[in-house]
Amino acid sequence: MSIAPKAIDKLTASEAAAELARLATQIAAHDAAYHLDDAPEISDAAYDALSQRNDAIEQQFPELVRDDSPSKKVGAPLSEKFAKVPHFVRMLSLGNAFNDGDVADFVARISRFLKLDEPVLFTAEPKIDGLSASLRYEKGKFVLGLTRGDGAVGENITENLMTISDIPHTIKNAPDVIEIRGEVYMAKAAFATLNQTQEAKGEQAFANPRNAAAGSLRQLDSKITAARPLAFFAYAWGEVSHMPADTQTGMMALFKKWGFQVNPLPEQCDTVEALILHYERIEQRRASLDYDIDGVVYKVDRLDYQERLGFVSRAPRWAIAHKFPAEQATTILNDIEIQVGRTGALTPVAKLDPVNVGGVVVSNATLHNQDEIERKDIRIGDTVVIQRAGDVIPQVVRVLIDKRLKTSKPFVFPKVCPVCGSAAVRAEDEKGGSDVVCRCTGGLSCPAQAVERLKHFVSRRAMDIDGLGAKQIEAFYEDGLVKSPADIFTLQKRDKTGLKKLKDREGFGSLSVSNLFAAIDTARSQKLPRFLFGLGIRHVGETTAGLIARHVGTGEGFFEFGQTLAAEEEAATGAAADFLAIDGIGETVVTALREFFSETHNVEALRALLDQVDPAPVAEVKSDSPVAGKIVVFTGTLTQMTRDEAKVRAAALGAKVSGSVSAKTDILIAGEKAGSKLKKATELGVTTMTEAEWLELIGS
Ligand code: IVH
Repeated sequence: MSIAPKAIDKLTASEAAAELARLATQIAAHDAAYHLDDAPEISDAAYDALSQRNDAIEQQFPELVRDDSPSKKVGAPLSEKFAKVPHFVRMLSLGNAFNDGDVADFVARISRFLKLDEPVLFTAEPKIDGLSASLRYEKGKFVLGLTRGDGAVGENITENLMTISDIPHTIKNAPDVIEIRGEVYMAKAAFATLNQTQEAKGEQAFANPRNAAAGSLRQLDSKITAARPLAFFAYAWGEVSHMPADTQTGMMALFKKWGFQVNPLPEQCDTVEALILHYERIEQRRASLDYDIDGVVYKVDRLDYQERLGFVSRAPRWAIAHKFPAEQATTILNDIEIQVGRTGALTPVAKLDPVNVGGVVVSNATLHNQDEIERKDIRIGDTVVIQRAGDVIPQVVRVLIDKRLKTSKPFVFPKVCPVCGSAAVRAEDEKGGSDVVCRCTGGLSCPAQAVERLKHFVSRRAMDIDGLGAKQIEAFYEDGLVKSPADIFTLQKRDKTGLKKLKDREGFGSLSVSNLFAAIDTARSQKLPRFLFGLGIRHVGETTAGLIARHVGTGEGFFEFGQTLAAEEEAATGAAADFLAIDGIGETVVTALREFFSETHNVEALRALLDQVDPAPVAEVKSDSPVAGKIVVFTGTLTQMTRDEAKVRAAALGAKVSGSVSAKTDILIAGEKAGSKLKKATELGVTTMTEAEWLELIGS
């Protein structure tokens, strides 16, 4: 039996009013999660379904349209109205630990990396559930305040941050330049009062303090921000002209001296047990604290260690967030919707009776795949326990079997793609079993796949084309305006001669059209790694795209390289061999590239695209170092540092670290007990040096 949402023509007026109210809150929360926090809780398709249902109900009951209706929010999201400013120092995120084992691994990893036998001192402090901001002080004056944005580029919200009383406008005896980072949040009591006032004024209530803080901070009119009870805890820093302390603890003491609020619950711990004990203490106090926290952050105290540890991808090696367990709730699963993604993967999504889970209204949960549904025997109409942890997509934990309806039947996973009708199959994996993911075989002829690939191509982390978001891509695709990535870049030309002009479309004006064309033109020289990432080739994530970009140099270089690769028979000869020598590139990537370039339609689409764009090559990391551009290989046991640390340092100096020796290797650094690689390097006449010689060369 399916308890699908009630057909709109069957709704009574009071049911419609209640649902519109719920949709307004829900959509606003999703808007905040998506635009403000970079952490969407539902897929775009699910979001669109909500908006569509809202619109359809409003059409049926025009007298019930609310003042805060999502349909009235026109134009670009607020974020587009704040100027974008690059961060001088990237704003990182944190890796997560979910249990004691993860914490032990974290501590062990650090000791190993630093090659230390004695214990490392950590600080442990609450993880505040708000929004991070970076405050730049020059000669003691607050001059620039940015949101985190995507970590590399933030939005200028200086005026709004100025209104927060916890943020001093001047600081004394500080370094010439210092960026103080921390969390803007709203205290629980202040949030409750604010919501009462909002409701009394007939305005929209916020779902939780975090959303309230987000909504308040991103006001165009800073007077509104000033009227909202925002607070700020300082806990980190960005650019600093001259480090005024040498430990995390020391920095926090200075922050306090300069007039910032710092969290009063930090503890210094030098064992895993001590960290966990402090975590448990904080967890016990969680409910009684006047601000929301979602875990405890552990940081290496010594700043020289922090520096040596550096970061991997987007998170520092020297810190981790130990998250509190997920919050759970019980609700009814009304339907199972099958979504089709960029790679054709069919993902089942549970459509739930909306339920509040730890302050967030949840109406969708991922069911992952067919096996997961069968393993948990999840059926339409079931009462289910769902959970969410932080910004992770909500999940169905289990079914409450004794509440199951007698008439319920097991869910039958579709054998065809719900969008294009092509067969949906589970490929055989390497071990002869069947892959967990069921995929539509329609390729680009499947509108869902084509559209999802286009959305990925224009997305923030890829080509980052302002004004061309998921909604526009869908509309343009539907109207036949944009069917492949190259079409985006011919839009303007076609618009000149076309009959139905872009500016006559709903949601577009002459200004937004000219802005869009300008953004598209800018994207023609988007950085090569982003361009490659945007192609959506399987197994080519951001990191791999960066490695490939460095290897091929230019867009044309990539085109040639891919074709050479596809034409080669052997997995590890010729072009593939040099490529595979790069640390971080494995067979999977080579195979994925070969597959991509073996499909004529991919080659054609890429060719057409490269006729329109000229991605910018990657800048060399450091060209003045003696090892810049050199291919180096480490072998044997190093004594001064671990292999990982050595590789990171070499890469930072612009060297290309390879895992194997070939005639192209420039330097082999042989640690103790070096074996076959050293032998091969000597045979090939490659320069070899000891660890000490290497350190001298790089001036360390
Ligand atoms: S340290 C280099 N400390 O958590 C890492 N972050 O999930 C600097 N956060 O983006 C962050 N409380 O917005 C740090 N006590 C705390 C924090 C904290 C909350 C946030 C921060 C960060 C996010 C990572």
